[in-house]
Amino acid sequence: MIFQEPVICRTPKYVVDTGKLEKPVKVALTNDWHVSKIVSEKQLRFLEKKLKKIKPDVILIQGDLFDTPWSLDNEKLVSALKKEMKLCAEIAETIMIIGNHDQIEPAHPAPKNHKEFESWQRPDTIRDWQKICKEVGVKLLLDDWVEIRGVRIFGFFEDPECFYTKPGARRGENYDAMKEKIRNLSKDGKLKARDGKVQWFVSHAPMSDSLEMEELKDFDVFSFGHTHGGCVPVGIDYVVDLLGVHGGIVAPFLKWFPRKYMRGRELLPNKAHLIINSGMVMTQDSAPKWLHYINFLKAAEITEVIVK
Ligand SMILES: [Fe+2]
Ligand SMILES: [Fe+2]
Repeated sequence: MIFQEPVICRTPKYVVDTGKLEKPVKVALTNDWHVSKIVSEKQLRFLEKKLKKIKPDVILIQGDLFDTPWSLDNEKLVSALKKEMKLCAEIAETIMIIGNHDQIEPAHPAPKNHKEFESWQRPDTIRDWQKICKEVGVKLLLDDWVEIRGVRIFGFFEDPECFYTKPGARRGENYDAMKEKIRNLSKDGKLKARDGKVQWFVSHAPMSDSLEMEELKDFDVFSFGHTHGGCVPVGIDYVVDLLGVHGGIVAPFLKWFPRKYMRGRELLPNKAHLIINSGMVMTQDSAPKWLHYINFLKAAEITEVIVK
Protein backbone atom coordinates (compact mmCIF):
# COMPACT_ATOMS: atom_id res chain seq x y z
CA MET A 1 0.00 0.00 0.00
CA ILE A 2 1.34 3.42 -0.92
CA PHE A 3 0.43 5.75 1.91
CA GLN A 4 0.87 8.82 -0.25
CA GLU A 5 -2.52 8.14 -1.86
CA PRO A 6 -5.91 8.80 -0.30
CA VAL A 7 -7.45 5.50 0.82
CA ILE A 8 -11.11 6.45 0.71
CA CYS A 9 -13.05 9.50 -0.44
CA ARG A 10 -15.93 10.71 1.72
CA THR A 11 -18.81 12.74 0.32
CA PRO A 12 -20.59 14.51 3.20
CA LYS A 13 -23.89 16.07 2.17
CA TYR A 14 -25.55 19.21 3.58
CA VAL A 15 -28.84 20.94 2.80
CA VAL A 16 -28.94 24.73 2.97
CA ASP A 17 -32.53 25.93 2.99
CA THR A 18 -32.66 29.65 2.25
CA GLY A 19 -36.27 29.62 0.99
CA LYS A 20 -35.09 31.70 -1.97
CA LEU A 21 -34.95 29.10 -4.75
CA GLU A 22 -37.81 27.46 -6.63
CA LYS A 23 -35.58 24.63 -7.84
CA PRO A 24 -32.70 23.32 -5.69
CA VAL A 25 -29.14 23.82 -6.93
CA LYS A 26 -26.53 21.16 -6.18
CA VAL A 27 -22.98 22.40 -5.51
CA ALA A 28 -19.92 20.15 -5.14
CA LEU A 29 -16.90 21.45 -3.21
CA THR A 30 -13.40 20.18 -3.95
CA ASN A 31 -10.01 21.62 -3.10
CA ASP A 32 -6.44 21.01 -1.97
CA TRP A 33 -5.53 18.71 -4.84
CA HIS A 34 -1.85 19.72 -4.36
CA VAL A 35 -0.93 18.27 -7.75
CA SER A 36 2.79 17.44 -7.65
CA LYS A 37 5.09 14.61 -8.72
CA ILE A 38 3.96 12.53 -5.73
CA VAL A 39 0.21 12.83 -6.45
CA SER A 40 -0.91 10.12 -8.88
CA GLU A 41 -3.91 9.74 -11.18
CA LYS A 42 -5.77 8.03 -8.35
CA GLN A 43 -6.98 11.50 -7.37
CA LEU A 44 -8.40 12.02 -10.85
CA ARG A 45 -10.24 8.70 -10.59
CA PHE A 46 -11.72 9.67 -7.19
CA LEU A 47 -12.90 12.99 -8.63
CA GLU A 48 -14.46 11.29 -11.63
CA LYS A 49 -16.25 8.59 -9.65
CA LYS A 50 -17.60 10.85 -6.89
CA LEU A 51 -18.50 13.89 -9.01
CA LYS A 52 -20.35 11.72 -11.54
CA LYS A 53 -22.29 10.19 -8.66
CA ILE A 54 -23.13 13.57 -7.07
CA LYS A 55 -24.19 15.06 -10.45
CA PRO A 56 -23.71 18.68 -9.33
CA ASP A 57 -24.99 21.75 -11.13
CA VAL A 58 -21.91 23.68 -10.02
CA ILE A 59 -18.42 22.61 -8.94
CA LEU A 60 -16.39 24.95 -6.75
CA ILE A 61 -12.63 24.30 -6.75
CA GLN A 62 -11.53 26.09 -3.60
CA GLY A 63 -7.81 26.55 -4.15
CA ASP A 64 -4.45 24.79 -3.66
CA LEU A 65 -4.74 23.02 -6.98
CA PHE A 66 -0.94 22.91 -7.17
CA ASP A 67 1.48 22.14 -4.35
CA THR A 68 3.76 24.99 -5.37
CA PRO A 69 3.14 27.84 -7.82
CA TRP A 70 6.38 26.92 -9.63
CA SER A 71 4.54 23.87 -10.98
CA LEU A 72 2.98 26.32 -13.44
CA ASP A 73 6.35 26.14 -15.23
CA ASN A 74 6.33 22.32 -15.41
CA GLU A 75 4.58 21.02 -18.53
CA LYS A 76 3.97 17.54 -17.15
CA LEU A 77 2.31 18.84 -13.97
CA VAL A 78 0.29 21.46 -15.84
CA SER A 79 -1.05 18.73 -18.10
CA ALA A 80 -1.95 16.52 -15.08
CA LEU A 81 -3.74 19.47 -13.52
CA LYS A 82 -5.62 20.33 -16.70
CA LYS A 83 -6.98 16.77 -16.83
CA GLU A 84 -8.59 17.27 -13.41
CA MET A 85 -9.92 20.72 -14.26
CA LYS A 86 -11.30 19.56 -17.64
CA LEU A 87 -13.02 16.63 -15.97
CA CYS A 88 -14.82 19.05 -13.63
CA ALA A 89 -15.75 21.39 -16.49
CA GLU A 90 -17.23 18.45 -18.44
CA ILE A 91 -19.39 17.39 -15.48
CA ALA A 92 -20.78 20.82 -14.47
CA GLU A 93 -20.25 24.55 -14.59
CA THR A 94 -16.95 24.92 -12.73
CA ILE A 95 -15.61 27.87 -10.78
CA MET A 96 -12.22 28.16 -9.13
CA ILE A 97 -10.41 30.44 -6.74
CA ILE A 98 -6.70 30.64 -5.97
CA GLY A 99 -5.13 29.19 -2.80
CA ASN A 100 -1.91 30.05 -0.98
CA HIS A 101 0.06 27.19 -2.59
CA ASP A 102 -1.06 28.39 -6.02
CA GLN A 103 0.74 31.72 -5.62
CA ILE A 104 3.34 31.61 -2.81
CA GLU A 105 6.27 29.21 -2.41
CA PRO A 106 5.13 26.84 0.36
CA ALA A 107 7.19 25.84 3.39
CA HIS A 108 9.29 28.99 3.32
CA PRO A 109 10.90 30.10 6.56
CA ALA A 110 9.40 33.02 8.50
CA PRO A 111 10.21 36.09 6.37
CA LYS A 112 12.66 38.69 7.70
CA ASN A 113 10.80 41.48 5.94
CA HIS A 114 8.19 42.11 3.28
CA LYS A 115 10.76 42.19 0.49
CA GLU A 116 11.86 38.68 1.33
CA PHE A 117 8.23 37.55 1.42
CA GLU A 118 7.73 39.04 -2.06
CA SER A 119 10.54 36.87 -3.38
CA TRP A 120 8.44 33.77 -2.54
CA GLN A 121 5.67 34.94 -4.84
CA ARG A 122 5.76 33.69 -8.42
CA PRO A 123 5.59 36.47 -11.01
CA ASP A 124 2.81 36.18 -13.62
CA THR A 125 0.88 33.71 -11.48
CA ILE A 126 -2.50 35.33 -12.07
CA ARG A 127 -1.96 35.65 -15.82
CA ASP A 128 -0.98 31.96 -16.03
CA TRP A 129 -4.00 30.81 -14.01
CA GLN A 130 -6.26 32.91 -16.24
CA LYS A 131 -4.73 31.24 -19.30
CA ILE A 132 -5.23 27.72 -17.93
CA CYS A 133 -8.81 28.44 -16.85
CA LYS A 134 -9.71 29.79 -20.28
CA GLU A 135 -8.25 26.74 -21.96
CA VAL A 136 -10.08 24.18 -19.81
CA GLY A 137 -13.39 26.06 -19.52
CA VAL A 138 -13.22 26.89 -15.81
CA LYS A 139 -14.26 30.31 -14.49
CA LEU A 140 -11.66 31.94 -12.26
CA LEU A 141 -13.12 34.36 -9.72
CA LEU A 142 -10.86 37.14 -8.45
CA ASP A 143 -13.02 39.30 -6.17
CA ASP A 144 -15.88 38.80 -8.56
CA TRP A 145 -19.41 37.37 -8.80
CA VAL A 146 -21.02 34.73 -10.95
CA GLU A 147 -24.73 33.86 -10.90
CA ILE A 148 -25.98 30.37 -11.58
CA ARG A 149 -29.73 29.60 -11.33
CA GLY A 150 -30.42 32.08 -8.56
CA VAL A 151 -27.21 31.39 -6.63
CA ARG A 152 -24.80 34.32 -6.68
CA ILE A 153 -21.26 33.24 -5.87
CA PHE A 154 -18.60 35.74 -4.81
CA GLY A 155 -15.05 34.39 -5.19
CA PHE A 156 -12.77 36.19 -2.72
CA PHE A 157 -9.15 36.43 -3.81
CA GLU A 158 -6.90 35.80 -0.81
CA ASP A 159 -3.88 37.54 -2.29
CA PRO A 160 -0.36 37.07 -0.84
CA GLU A 161 -0.99 39.82 1.71
CA CYS A 162 -3.65 37.57 3.26
CA PHE A 163 -0.87 35.07 4.07
CA TYR A 164 1.84 37.51 5.12
CA THR A 165 2.53 37.76 8.80
CA LYS A 166 4.94 40.33 10.13
CA PRO A 167 8.53 39.31 10.95
CA GLY A 168 8.73 37.48 14.24
CA ALA A 169 5.09 36.41 14.13
CA ARG A 170 4.12 32.86 13.35
CA ARG A 171 3.61 32.60 9.60
CA GLY A 172 0.19 31.75 8.30
CA GLU A 173 -3.14 33.36 7.65
CA ASN A 174 -3.29 37.11 8.17
CA TYR A 175 -6.84 37.81 9.36
CA ASP A 176 -6.18 41.56 9.65
CA ALA A 177 -5.29 41.75 5.95
CA MET A 178 -8.39 39.73 5.05
CA LYS A 179 -10.62 42.05 7.09
CA GLU A 180 -9.04 45.14 5.55
CA LYS A 181 -9.64 43.75 2.07
CA ILE A 182 -13.29 42.98 2.88
CA ARG A 183 -13.84 46.52 4.23
CA ASN A 184 -12.38 47.96 1.01
CA LEU A 185 -14.46 45.69 -1.25
CA SER A 186 -17.57 46.73 0.64
CA LYS A 187 -16.69 50.44 0.39
CA ASP A 188 -16.32 49.99 -3.39
CA GLY A 189 -19.81 48.44 -3.51
CA LYS A 190 -18.46 45.06 -4.62
CA LEU A 191 -20.17 42.98 -1.93
CA LYS A 192 -23.73 44.17 -2.57
CA ALA A 193 -26.42 41.52 -2.22
CA ARG A 194 -29.39 41.22 -4.59
CA ASP A 195 -32.90 40.59 -3.32
CA GLY A 196 -34.26 37.10 -3.75
CA LYS A 197 -30.89 35.55 -4.64
CA VAL A 198 -28.76 33.19 -2.59
CA GLN A 199 -25.45 34.89 -1.73
CA TRP A 200 -22.48 32.50 -1.49
CA PHE A 201 -18.99 33.58 -0.43
CA VAL A 202 -16.15 31.24 -1.41
CA SER A 203 -12.51 31.58 -0.47
CA HIS A 204 -9.53 29.34 0.28
CA ALA A 205 -8.46 29.68 3.93
CA PRO A 206 -11.16 29.87 6.63
CA MET A 207 -11.40 33.45 7.82
CA SER A 208 -11.96 33.10 11.54
CA ASP A 209 -14.20 35.79 13.07
CA SER A 210 -13.99 37.91 9.87
CA LEU A 211 -17.14 36.02 8.88
CA GLU A 212 -19.05 37.92 11.53
CA MET A 213 -18.21 41.30 9.97
CA GLU A 214 -21.11 43.65 9.23
CA GLU A 215 -19.91 43.82 5.59
CA LEU A 216 -20.63 40.10 5.15
CA LYS A 217 -24.00 39.98 6.87
CA ASP A 218 -26.01 39.36 3.68
CA PHE A 219 -24.25 36.13 2.74
CA ASP A 220 -26.19 32.88 3.20
CA VAL A 221 -23.24 30.52 2.72
CA PHE A 222 -19.47 30.67 3.27
CA SER A 223 -17.27 27.85 1.98
CA PHE A 224 -13.55 27.20 2.31
CA GLY A 225 -10.81 24.61 1.88
CA HIS A 226 -7.18 24.75 3.14
CA THR A 227 -7.56 22.88 6.44
CA HIS A 228 -6.55 19.35 5.33
CA GLY A 229 -8.45 18.65 8.48
CA GLY A 230 -8.93 14.92 8.53
CA CYS A 231 -5.48 13.82 9.60
CA VAL A 232 -6.59 10.86 11.74
CA PRO A 233 -6.85 7.19 10.77
CA VAL A 234 -9.65 6.12 8.46
CA GLY A 235 -12.39 4.68 10.66
CA ILE A 236 -11.22 6.62 13.69
CA ASP A 237 -11.98 9.55 11.40
CA TYR A 238 -15.69 8.86 11.92
CA VAL A 239 -15.38 8.30 15.67
CA VAL A 240 -13.62 11.64 16.14
CA ASP A 241 -16.31 13.30 14.06
CA LEU A 242 -18.94 11.83 16.36
CA LEU A 243 -17.05 13.29 19.32
CA GLY A 244 -17.48 16.67 17.62
CA VAL A 245 -13.94 17.68 16.76
CA HIS A 246 -14.42 17.04 13.05
CA GLY A 247 -11.59 14.66 12.49
CA GLY A 248 -8.79 17.19 12.38
CA ILE A 249 -6.00 17.52 14.85
CA VAL A 250 -3.31 19.73 13.42
CA ALA A 251 -4.23 22.30 10.80
CA PRO A 252 -1.87 23.93 8.32
CA PHE A 253 0.86 26.07 9.89
CA LEU A 254 0.57 23.77 12.93
CA LYS A 255 -2.21 25.83 14.44
CA TRP A 256 -4.72 24.06 16.60
CA PHE A 257 -7.98 24.98 14.94
CA PRO A 258 -11.17 25.25 16.96
CA ARG A 259 -13.95 23.07 15.66
CA LYS A 260 -15.63 25.58 13.40
CA TYR A 261 -12.50 26.14 11.34
CA MET A 262 -11.71 22.50 10.53
CA ARG A 263 -14.25 20.57 8.53
CA GLY A 264 -17.98 20.09 8.05
CA ARG A 265 -20.85 22.53 8.51
CA GLU A 266 -21.53 25.08 11.24
CA LEU A 267 -24.26 27.67 11.68
CA LEU A 268 -22.87 31.16 12.30
CA PRO A 269 -24.59 33.56 14.75
CA ASN A 270 -26.37 35.32 11.83
CA LYS A 271 -27.68 31.89 10.68
CA ALA A 272 -25.35 31.76 7.65
CA HIS A 273 -23.87 28.35 6.88
CA LEU A 274 -20.11 27.83 7.16
CA ILE A 275 -19.00 24.79 5.16
CA ILE A 276 -15.41 23.54 5.07
CA ASN A 277 -14.16 20.80 2.77
CA SER A 278 -10.85 19.39 3.94
CA GLY A 279 -9.74 18.37 0.45
CA MET A 280 -8.11 15.50 -1.37
CA VAL A 281 -4.66 15.02 0.15
CA MET A 282 -2.72 15.43 3.35
CA THR A 283 0.43 14.65 1.43
CA GLN A 284 2.39 17.63 0.21
CA ASP A 285 5.54 17.37 -1.84
CA SER A 286 6.66 20.67 -0.36
CA ALA A 287 6.43 19.29 3.21
CA PRO A 288 9.28 17.43 4.98
CA LYS A 289 9.76 13.93 3.58
CA TRP A 290 8.29 12.02 6.54
CA LEU A 291 5.06 13.95 6.11
CA HIS A 292 4.68 12.56 2.59
CA TYR A 293 3.46 9.31 4.12
CA ILE A 294 0.88 10.76 6.49
CA ASN A 295 -1.89 10.52 3.90
CA PHE A 296 -2.87 7.08 5.17
CA LEU A 297 -4.28 8.90 8.16
CA LYS A 298 -6.79 10.83 6.12
CA ALA A 299 -9.88 10.24 4.05
CA ALA A 300 -10.18 12.45 0.98
CA GLU A 301 -13.33 14.55 0.91
CA ILE A 302 -15.69 16.07 -1.68
CA THR A 303 -18.65 17.92 -0.16
CA GLU A 304 -22.14 18.00 -1.66
CA VAL A 305 -24.33 20.99 -0.83
CA ILE A 306 -27.98 21.20 -1.86
CA VAL A 307 -29.17 24.80 -1.84
CA LYS A 308 -32.90 25.38 -1.68
FE1 LIG B 1 -3.80 22.99 0.90
FE1 LIG C 1 -3.96 26.26 1.60
